[in-house]
Amino acid sequence: MSVPDPEFLERIRRQFDHCPYPNIPVEKSYKDQPDTLYLHSLTTAFYRCHGRVINTEGKLILDAGCGTGLKALALAQANPGAKVISVDISAESVEFAQKRLEYHGVTNGQFHVMPLEELAQLGMTFDYINCDEVLYLLDSQVTGLQALKAVLKPGGILRVNLHSTYGRSTMLRSQTAFKRMGLMDSNPEETEIGIVRDTFNAMRDNILLKQVSGWNEKDCPDESILANHLLVGDRGFSVPEMFSFLNTSDLEFFSMVEWRKWDIYNLFKEPENLPVFWAMTLPEASDEDQLALVELFHPINRLIDLWCGHPRSRPDPRPVSEWTDEIWQGATAYLHPQFKTEPFREHLYHCIKILNPFEISRFMPGLGLSTLVDATMSAALFVPLLEQPQTVLELVNRWQTLHPVDPETLEPVPFDAAFVIVQAALRNLEAGTYILLDCP
Ligand SMILES: C[S@@+](CC[C@H](N)C(=O)[O-])C[C@H]1O[C@@H](n2cnc3c(N)ncnc32)[C@H](O)[C@@H]1O
Repeated sequence: MSVPDPEFLERIRRQFDHCPYPNIPVEKSYKDQPDTLYLHSLTTAFYRCHGRVINTEGKLILDAGCGTGLKALALAQANPGAKVISVDISAESVEFAQKRLEYHGVTNGQFHVMPLEELAQLGMTFDYINCDEVLYLLDSQVTGLQALKAVLKPGGILRVNLHSTYGRSTMLRSQTAFKRMGLMDSNPEETEIGIVRDTFNAMRDNILLKQVSGWNEKDCPDESILANHLLVGDRGFSVPEMFSFLNTSDLEFFSMVEWRKWDIYNLFKEPENLPVFWAMTLPEASDEDQLALVELFHPINRLIDLWCGHPRSRPDPRPVSEWTDEIWQGATAYLHPQFKTEPFREHLYHCIKILNPFEISRFMPGLGLSTLVDATMSAALFVPLLEQPQTVLELVNRWQTLHPVDPETLEPVPFDAAFVIVQAALRNLEAGTYILLDCP
């Protein structure tokens, strides 16, 4: 494994010692932002990547390049019973992160000032590694990935991301302009920030870079100018470049973190009715090709943000869409832990009481879904799942108890018919990752 260039490392360290990122007060946390906690939940990642429901108790998590610890805190809050180790090259950032976690009562963490390229020195391996908004800043992406892989447990998951050349094009262009004018020759500070501010304030409002970068004279804090227009070490990459780094590092791609935003079928008006060329080629296209096309056709994603890990030696459980009735009958259902909150419980009971459909999607708006569940099905599924996991058969029995006769004929609902109805509801809820299904 090659060693990072000390001069390069020193420039990055100075940048973040001068302005630790994100510059958000220590009291701030994502506790009341279920979408963010959902994203940092190991349950989400392991289910998406390995099709399994895991217990977070005792799991070891690394936040590599933790900055001021906002994500490390989210990892601790989203994963009860897990321990979070935070590492960063900037001592100022690590000190801030430590204060933040202590302020929020997270006392089992550990903090280290070190480059992530030297992680092996910790002598620990991790179930989950979060390396968010860091990889694009490294001297060598492959060296970084290899160092992270070396401390990832077998079966563990690594989250990494790079800036997308296309999705980040505006800020990369801005950086190129200010670099040309010498503003990034040494680490930019107050003077350089002032020049950027003066430049955009003085420019006409229809200047394209000013317009598309969303420049707002009244609301552009120094930190945001530094982290965008003047970010030292920032670089853009493409999906094929990211896959090439994974291949060289012998890492297997598992999934995009926000996989719905990268689904190529969602680019079409009628995904079930594609033009012949696409209907024939897309099902055969590799993950890399599909993602590269999304990035080219619709570069809305600033980050190429993914989960990967050691190459898998055996296939994961079959996807739910391919389950036989026999697998269904042996399966267990779980409510995603991020829904186990008091507001969820209160609203659920309210809807059941007045026989209103329960809009589960309002508790996770970031998923961009709209999911309504009728009151009887909500009572059959969510009420027991809030307490503990249930087998699919237990849920079918419960639905039958709540819905014993056919409303048209008043004949008892046979078990097989009840099974099909509950199965359809579970399929729909599983597709939204509200309910997770584990097969034996
Ligand atoms: C943009 S900030 C992201 C902070 C945090 N991960 C977040 O998303 O809020 C990048 C962080 O990576 C750290 N960093 C950059 N290169 C590093 C390296 N080689 N080893 C460890 N940390 C590094 C920086 O000091 C900085 O705190």
